Amino acid sequence: VKKKILFELRKLSGSYVSGEALSVQLGVSRTAIWKHVRELREEGYKIGSSSKKGYMLSAVPELNENEIKNGLQTIYLGRTIVYLETVGSTNTYAKKISLEGCHEGTVVVSENQTSARGRLGREWHSEGGKGIWMSVVLRPSIPPESVQIITLAAAVAVVKAIQYVTGIEAAIKWPNDIILNGKKLCGILTEMSCEMERVNFIVVGIGINVNHSEEDFPQNLRKIATSLKIFSQSIKNGDSHSYNRSAILKRLLFELEQMYNVINNCPSNKIDVDLNTNGNAVIAENSDSLTKEDSNSIVNEWRKYSLTLGKEITVIARGGEYNGIAVDITSDGRLIVLANDGIKHEILSGEVSIRGF
Ligand code: BTN
Repeated sequence: VKKKILFELRKLSGSYVSGEALSVQLGVSRTAIWKHVRELREEGYKIGSSSKKGYMLSAVPELNENEIKNGLQTIYLGRTIVYLETVGSTNTYAKKISLEGCHEGTVVVSENQTSARGRLGREWHSEGGKGIWMSVVLRPSIPPESVQIITLAAAVAVVKAIQYVTGIEAAIKWPNDIILNGKKLCGILTEMSCEMERVNFIVVGIGINVNHSEEDFPQNLRKIATSLKIFSQSIKNGDSHSYNRSAILKRLLFELEQMYNVINNCPSNKIDVDLNTNGNAVIAENSDSLTKEDSNSIVNEWRKYSLTLGKEITVIARGGEYNGIAVDITSDGRLIVLANDGIKHEILSGEVSIRGF
Protein backbone atom coordinates (compact mmCIF):
# COMPACT_ATOMS: atom_id res chain seq x y z
CA VAL A 1 0.00 0.00 0.00
CA LYS A 2 2.82 2.37 0.89
CA LYS A 3 4.32 1.98 -2.58
CA LYS A 4 0.93 2.62 -4.17
CA ILE A 5 0.43 5.77 -2.09
CA LEU A 6 3.84 6.99 -3.18
CA PHE A 7 2.98 6.18 -6.79
CA GLU A 8 -0.25 8.22 -6.59
CA LEU A 9 1.43 11.14 -4.82
CA ARG A 10 4.22 11.12 -7.39
CA LYS A 11 1.71 11.23 -10.27
CA LEU A 12 0.24 14.40 -8.81
CA SER A 13 3.46 15.75 -7.38
CA GLY A 14 3.01 19.48 -6.75
CA SER A 15 -0.74 19.27 -6.19
CA TYR A 16 -2.89 17.84 -3.42
CA VAL A 17 -4.68 14.52 -3.40
CA SER A 18 -7.29 13.94 -0.72
CA GLY A 19 -6.95 11.25 1.92
CA GLU A 20 -10.50 10.21 1.08
CA ALA A 21 -9.69 9.71 -2.61
CA LEU A 22 -6.59 7.67 -1.74
CA SER A 23 -8.50 5.54 0.71
CA VAL A 24 -11.27 4.75 -1.82
CA GLN A 25 -8.82 4.12 -4.63
CA LEU A 26 -6.55 1.80 -2.61
CA GLY A 27 -9.32 0.19 -0.56
CA VAL A 28 -7.84 0.98 2.86
CA SER A 29 -8.94 3.24 5.71
CA ARG A 30 -7.92 6.87 5.95
CA THR A 31 -6.06 6.01 9.15
CA ALA A 32 -4.01 3.46 7.21
CA ILE A 33 -3.23 6.11 4.58
CA TRP A 34 -2.14 8.50 7.31
CA LYS A 35 0.15 5.86 8.90
CA HIS A 36 1.84 5.09 5.59
CA VAL A 37 2.30 8.79 4.88
CA ARG A 38 3.97 9.11 8.27
CA GLU A 39 6.34 6.24 7.39
CA LEU A 40 7.14 7.81 4.03
CA ARG A 41 7.98 11.07 5.81
CA GLU A 42 10.29 9.14 8.14
CA GLU A 43 12.04 7.78 5.05
CA GLY A 44 12.72 11.32 3.88
CA TYR A 45 9.75 12.06 1.60
CA LYS A 46 8.46 15.62 2.09
CA ILE A 47 4.69 15.30 2.11
CA GLY A 48 2.64 18.34 2.99
CA SER A 49 -0.84 17.90 4.42
CA SER A 50 -3.87 20.08 4.79
CA SER A 51 -7.08 19.01 6.48
CA LYS A 52 -9.12 20.33 3.56
CA LYS A 53 -6.99 19.39 0.56
CA GLY A 54 -5.19 16.20 1.60
CA TYR A 55 -1.57 15.31 0.87
CA MET A 56 1.03 16.72 -1.49
CA LEU A 57 4.47 15.34 -2.33
CA SER A 58 7.01 18.14 -2.57
CA ALA A 59 10.43 16.42 -2.32
CA VAL A 60 11.85 12.90 -2.46
CA PRO A 61 15.00 11.43 -0.85
CA GLU A 62 18.00 11.26 -3.12
CA LEU A 63 18.79 7.55 -2.79
CA ASN A 64 16.67 4.64 -1.64
CA GLU A 65 15.05 1.53 -3.10
CA ASN A 66 11.94 3.37 -4.36
CA GLU A 67 13.93 6.12 -6.01
CA ILE A 68 16.17 3.62 -7.80
CA LYS A 69 13.20 1.60 -9.02
CA ASN A 70 11.18 4.61 -10.11
CA GLY A 71 11.83 4.91 -13.85
CA LEU A 72 14.39 2.08 -13.90
CA GLN A 73 14.70 0.94 -17.52
CA THR A 74 16.10 -2.53 -16.99
CA ILE A 75 14.52 -5.95 -17.31
CA TYR A 76 16.41 -7.76 -14.55
CA LEU A 77 19.33 -5.68 -13.20
CA GLY A 78 18.17 -3.93 -10.05
CA ARG A 79 14.72 -5.52 -9.99
CA THR A 80 15.70 -6.69 -6.51
CA ILE A 81 17.41 -3.96 -4.52
CA VAL A 82 18.85 -4.45 -1.05
CA TYR A 83 19.20 -0.93 0.34
CA LEU A 84 21.14 -0.65 3.59
CA GLU A 85 22.00 2.33 5.77
CA THR A 86 25.30 0.76 6.80
CA VAL A 87 27.17 -2.41 5.91
CA GLY A 88 30.77 -3.61 6.19
CA SER A 89 31.16 -4.02 2.43
CA THR A 90 28.41 -4.30 -0.18
CA ASN A 91 30.57 -6.88 -1.98
CA THR A 92 30.83 -9.09 1.08
CA TYR A 93 27.09 -8.78 1.65
CA ALA A 94 26.34 -9.56 -2.01
CA LYS A 95 28.57 -12.63 -1.90
CA LYS A 96 26.70 -13.89 1.15
CA ILE A 97 23.27 -13.53 -0.45
CA SER A 98 24.58 -15.00 -3.71
CA LEU A 99 25.57 -18.15 -1.83
CA GLU A 100 22.07 -18.20 -0.38
CA GLY A 101 20.69 -18.16 -3.94
CA CYS A 102 19.60 -14.57 -4.59
CA HIS A 103 18.35 -13.65 -8.06
CA GLU A 104 20.67 -12.66 -10.84
CA GLY A 105 20.67 -8.88 -11.09
CA THR A 106 20.19 -8.30 -7.36
CA VAL A 107 21.82 -5.02 -6.37
CA VAL A 108 23.12 -4.21 -2.90
CA VAL A 109 23.44 -0.46 -2.19
CA SER A 110 24.53 1.16 1.03
CA GLU A 111 24.88 4.73 2.25
CA ASN A 112 27.88 3.77 4.42
CA GLN A 113 30.48 1.03 4.33
CA THR A 114 32.61 0.41 7.38
CA SER A 115 35.17 -1.92 5.78
CA ALA A 116 34.97 -1.36 2.04
CA ARG A 117 37.50 -3.20 -0.04
CA GLY A 118 39.47 -2.20 -3.11
CA ARG A 119 41.48 -4.20 -5.62
CA LEU A 120 44.74 -5.92 -4.73
CA GLY A 121 43.80 -6.11 -1.06
CA ARG A 122 43.57 -2.35 -0.64
CA GLU A 123 41.05 -0.43 1.41
CA TRP A 124 38.42 1.77 -0.20
CA HIS A 125 37.32 5.05 1.34
CA SER A 126 33.52 5.29 1.09
CA GLU A 127 32.31 8.49 2.70
CA GLY A 128 28.79 8.08 4.11
CA GLY A 129 25.95 9.53 2.02
CA LYS A 130 28.27 10.96 -0.62
CA GLY A 131 28.88 8.22 -3.11
CA ILE A 132 27.37 5.26 -4.88
CA TRP A 133 28.54 2.15 -3.05
CA MET A 134 26.96 -0.82 -4.76
CA SER A 135 27.40 -4.44 -5.80
CA VAL A 136 25.62 -6.30 -8.59
CA VAL A 137 25.15 -10.08 -8.55
CA LEU A 138 25.51 -11.82 -11.92
CA ARG A 139 25.39 -15.49 -12.87
CA PRO A 140 26.88 -15.52 -16.35
CA SER A 141 27.10 -18.61 -18.52
CA ILE A 142 30.68 -17.92 -19.56
CA PRO A 143 33.90 -19.68 -18.55
CA PRO A 144 35.80 -18.26 -15.53
CA GLU A 145 38.67 -17.03 -17.72
CA SER A 146 36.29 -14.71 -19.61
CA VAL A 147 34.98 -12.89 -16.56
CA GLN A 148 37.32 -9.92 -17.03
CA ILE A 149 35.12 -8.79 -19.94
CA ILE A 150 32.30 -8.10 -17.48
CA THR A 151 34.54 -5.79 -15.46
CA LEU A 152 35.46 -3.93 -18.63
CA ALA A 153 31.77 -3.65 -19.47
CA ALA A 154 31.07 -2.28 -15.98
CA ALA A 155 33.72 0.41 -16.46
CA VAL A 156 32.18 1.42 -19.79
CA ALA A 157 28.72 1.46 -18.19
CA VAL A 158 29.95 3.81 -15.45
CA VAL A 159 31.50 6.25 -17.92
CA LYS A 160 28.41 6.24 -20.15
CA ALA A 161 26.01 6.69 -17.24
CA ILE A 162 27.97 9.61 -15.82
CA GLN A 163 28.10 11.23 -19.22
CA TYR A 164 24.37 10.70 -19.78
CA VAL A 165 23.25 12.08 -16.43
CA THR A 166 25.81 14.81 -15.76
CA GLY A 167 27.44 15.56 -19.13
CA ILE A 168 30.85 14.94 -17.51
CA GLU A 169 33.26 12.90 -19.62
CA ALA A 170 35.42 10.58 -17.55
CA ALA A 171 37.86 8.00 -18.95
CA ILE A 172 39.09 4.51 -18.10
CA LYS A 173 42.54 3.58 -16.88
CA TRP A 174 43.14 -0.10 -17.53
CA PRO A 175 41.59 -2.26 -16.33
CA ASN A 176 38.75 -0.40 -14.69
CA ASP A 177 39.64 2.74 -12.79
CA ILE A 178 37.51 5.67 -13.84
CA ILE A 179 39.56 8.84 -14.01
CA LEU A 180 38.60 12.50 -14.13
CA ASN A 181 41.16 15.30 -14.32
CA GLY A 182 43.92 12.77 -13.63
CA LYS A 183 42.31 11.64 -10.37
CA LYS A 184 40.31 8.57 -9.43
CA LEU A 185 36.56 8.97 -9.55
CA CYS A 186 35.45 5.35 -9.38
CA GLY A 187 36.85 1.91 -8.72
CA ILE A 188 35.48 -1.52 -9.55
CA LEU A 189 36.12 -4.71 -7.63
CA THR A 190 34.89 -7.91 -9.29
CA GLU A 191 34.85 -11.07 -7.23
CA MET A 192 33.77 -14.51 -8.33
CA SER A 193 32.85 -17.94 -7.13
CA CYS A 194 33.55 -20.62 -9.70
CA GLU A 195 34.40 -24.22 -10.41
CA MET A 196 36.96 -25.33 -13.00
CA GLU A 197 34.73 -24.66 -15.96
CA ARG A 198 31.76 -22.73 -14.76
CA VAL A 199 31.02 -19.57 -12.88
CA ASN A 200 28.65 -19.86 -9.94
CA PHE A 201 28.26 -16.14 -9.53
CA ILE A 202 30.17 -12.93 -9.79
CA VAL A 203 29.80 -9.79 -7.73
CA VAL A 204 30.67 -6.52 -9.47
CA GLY A 205 31.36 -3.93 -6.78
CA ILE A 206 31.31 -0.33 -7.92
CA GLY A 207 32.29 2.71 -5.89
CA ILE A 208 31.68 6.17 -7.41
CA ASN A 209 32.66 9.39 -5.65
CA VAL A 210 29.70 11.67 -6.35
CA ASN A 211 29.01 14.47 -3.90
CA HIS A 212 32.25 14.63 -1.93
CA SER A 213 33.89 17.93 -1.13
CA GLU A 214 37.70 17.97 -0.79
CA GLU A 215 37.37 17.66 3.01
CA ASP A 216 35.36 14.46 2.67
CA PHE A 217 38.50 12.68 1.53
CA PRO A 218 41.25 11.90 4.02
CA GLN A 219 44.33 14.09 3.51
CA ASN A 220 46.35 11.31 1.86
CA LEU A 221 43.71 10.80 -0.86
CA ARG A 222 43.08 14.43 -1.80
CA LYS A 223 45.80 14.45 -4.45
CA ILE A 224 44.67 11.24 -6.09
CA ALA A 225 40.88 11.09 -5.67
CA THR A 226 38.10 13.29 -6.95
CA SER A 227 34.29 13.42 -7.10
CA LEU A 228 31.76 14.67 -9.63
CA LYS A 229 30.99 17.57 -7.31
CA ILE A 230 34.64 18.62 -6.97
CA PHE A 231 35.02 18.42 -10.74
CA SER A 232 31.89 20.49 -11.40
CA GLN A 233 33.12 23.10 -8.92
CA SER A 234 36.43 23.33 -10.73
CA ILE A 235 34.78 24.07 -14.07
CA LYS A 236 32.08 26.39 -12.76
CA ASN A 237 34.20 28.99 -11.00
CA GLY A 238 33.70 27.48 -7.60
CA ASP A 239 29.91 27.01 -7.79
CA SER A 240 29.22 23.63 -6.32
CA HIS A 241 26.76 21.22 -7.83
CA SER A 242 25.43 18.04 -6.22
CA TYR A 243 24.24 15.18 -8.37
CA ASN A 244 21.36 12.79 -7.91
CA ARG A 245 22.86 9.42 -7.07
CA SER A 246 19.70 7.44 -7.91
CA ALA A 247 19.67 8.88 -11.43
CA ILE A 248 23.28 7.84 -12.04
CA LEU A 249 22.75 4.41 -10.52
CA LYS A 250 19.65 3.75 -12.64
CA ARG A 251 21.38 4.69 -15.85
CA LEU A 252 24.40 2.62 -14.88
CA LEU A 253 22.21 -0.46 -14.44
CA PHE A 254 20.63 0.20 -17.83
CA GLU A 255 23.99 0.55 -19.60
CA LEU A 256 25.39 -2.51 -17.84
CA GLU A 257 22.38 -4.64 -18.72
CA GLN A 258 22.73 -3.76 -22.41
CA MET A 259 26.33 -4.94 -22.46
CA TYR A 260 25.76 -7.92 -20.21
CA ASN A 261 23.08 -9.16 -22.61
CA VAL A 262 25.71 -9.22 -25.34
CA ILE A 263 28.21 -11.05 -23.12
CA ASN A 264 25.70 -13.53 -21.80
CA ASN A 265 24.13 -14.13 -25.20
CA CYS A 266 20.74 -12.77 -24.31
CA PRO A 267 19.42 -11.31 -27.54
CA SER A 268 17.28 -8.36 -26.58
CA ASN A 269 14.18 -9.91 -28.14
CA LYS A 270 14.55 -12.92 -25.88
CA ILE A 271 15.35 -11.42 -22.53
CA ASP A 272 11.78 -10.82 -21.48
CA VAL A 273 11.52 -14.60 -21.18
CA ASP A 274 11.84 -13.89 -17.46
CA LEU A 275 13.81 -15.55 -14.71
CA ASN A 276 14.15 -19.32 -14.47
CA THR A 277 13.57 -21.29 -11.30
CA ASN A 278 17.05 -20.58 -9.99
CA GLY A 279 16.42 -16.89 -10.43
CA ASN A 280 18.90 -16.56 -13.30
CA ALA A 281 18.10 -14.51 -16.38
CA VAL A 282 17.02 -16.92 -19.06
CA ILE A 283 19.48 -17.28 -21.86
CA ALA A 284 18.33 -17.91 -25.41
CA GLU A 285 18.01 -21.64 -25.98
CA ASN A 286 20.38 -21.71 -28.91
CA SER A 287 22.95 -19.48 -27.25
CA ASP A 288 26.62 -20.26 -27.79
CA SER A 289 29.26 -19.45 -25.27
CA LEU A 290 30.85 -16.00 -25.37
CA THR A 291 32.03 -15.42 -28.94
CA LYS A 292 35.00 -13.32 -30.02
CA GLU A 293 32.62 -10.91 -31.75
CA ASP A 294 30.64 -10.39 -28.55
CA SER A 295 33.83 -9.70 -26.60
CA ASN A 296 35.14 -7.46 -29.33
CA SER A 297 32.04 -5.31 -29.27
CA ILE A 298 32.60 -4.67 -25.55
CA VAL A 299 36.34 -4.18 -25.98
CA ASN A 300 35.67 -1.68 -28.79
CA GLU A 301 33.45 0.34 -26.48
CA TRP A 302 36.14 0.17 -23.82
CA ARG A 303 38.80 1.41 -26.30
CA LYS A 304 36.70 4.54 -26.96
CA TYR A 305 37.08 5.63 -23.35
CA SER A 306 40.57 4.34 -22.66
CA LEU A 307 43.21 6.60 -21.18
CA THR A 308 45.84 3.90 -21.23
CA LEU A 309 46.21 2.83 -24.86
CA GLY A 310 49.08 4.40 -26.72
CA LYS A 311 50.65 5.67 -23.48
CA GLU A 312 53.99 4.98 -21.93
CA ILE A 313 53.43 3.06 -18.71
CA THR A 314 55.26 1.32 -15.91
CA VAL A 315 54.02 -2.18 -15.12
CA ILE A 316 54.40 -3.07 -11.47
CA ALA A 317 54.31 -6.85 -11.16
CA ARG A 318 55.31 -9.18 -8.34
CA GLY A 319 58.61 -9.98 -10.02
CA GLY A 320 59.55 -6.31 -10.52
CA GLU A 321 58.81 -3.29 -12.69
CA TYR A 322 59.28 -2.58 -16.38
CA ASN A 323 58.45 0.27 -18.76
CA GLY A 324 56.77 0.05 -22.11
CA ILE A 325 53.91 1.20 -24.30
CA ALA A 326 50.34 -0.01 -23.76
CA VAL A 327 49.50 -0.97 -27.33
CA ASP A 328 46.08 -2.61 -27.11
CA ILE A 329 43.85 -4.97 -25.18
CA THR A 330 42.92 -8.50 -26.21
CA SER A 331 39.33 -9.58 -26.72
CA ASP A 332 39.39 -11.06 -23.22
CA GLY A 333 40.62 -7.85 -21.65
CA ARG A 334 44.35 -8.42 -21.16
CA LEU A 335 46.55 -5.38 -21.69
CA ILE A 336 49.17 -5.82 -24.42
CA VAL A 337 52.35 -4.02 -23.43
CA LEU A 338 55.37 -3.63 -25.68
CA ALA A 339 58.20 -3.39 -23.16
CA ASN A 340 61.19 -1.16 -23.90
CA ASP A 341 63.36 -4.28 -24.31
CA GLY A 342 61.17 -5.34 -27.27
CA ILE A 343 59.29 -8.11 -25.44
CA LYS A 344 55.50 -8.17 -25.78
CA HIS A 345 53.56 -8.93 -22.60
CA GLU A 346 49.87 -9.71 -22.16
CA ILE A 347 48.96 -8.77 -18.64
CA LEU A 348 46.04 -9.78 -16.47
CA SER A 349 44.51 -7.27 -14.12
CA GLY A 350 44.69 -9.38 -10.97
CA GLU A 351 48.48 -9.51 -11.18
CA VAL A 352 49.77 -6.02 -11.73
CA SER A 353 49.15 -2.36 -11.32
CA ILE A 354 50.24 0.26 -13.81
CA ARG A 355 51.48 3.80 -13.47
CA GLY A 356 52.03 6.27 -16.16
CA PHE A 357 50.28 9.44 -17.12
C1 BTN B 1 39.45 -0.33 -6.53
O1 BTN B 1 39.59 0.57 -7.36
O2 BTN B 1 40.39 -0.69 -5.83
C2 BTN B 1 38.08 -0.96 -6.38
C3 BTN B 1 37.20 -0.23 -5.42
C4 BTN B 1 35.83 -0.86 -5.30
C5 BTN B 1 34.98 -0.19 -4.24
C6 BTN B 1 33.57 -0.69 -4.24
S1 BTN B 1 32.51 0.26 -3.22
C7 BTN B 1 31.25 -0.93 -3.36
C8 BTN B 1 31.90 -2.28 -3.32
N1 BTN B 1 32.08 -2.76 -1.97
C9 BTN B 1 33.37 -2.89 -1.63
O3 BTN B 1 33.78 -3.28 -0.51
N2 BTN B 1 34.15 -2.51 -2.65
C10 BTN B 1 33.36 -2.13 -3.81
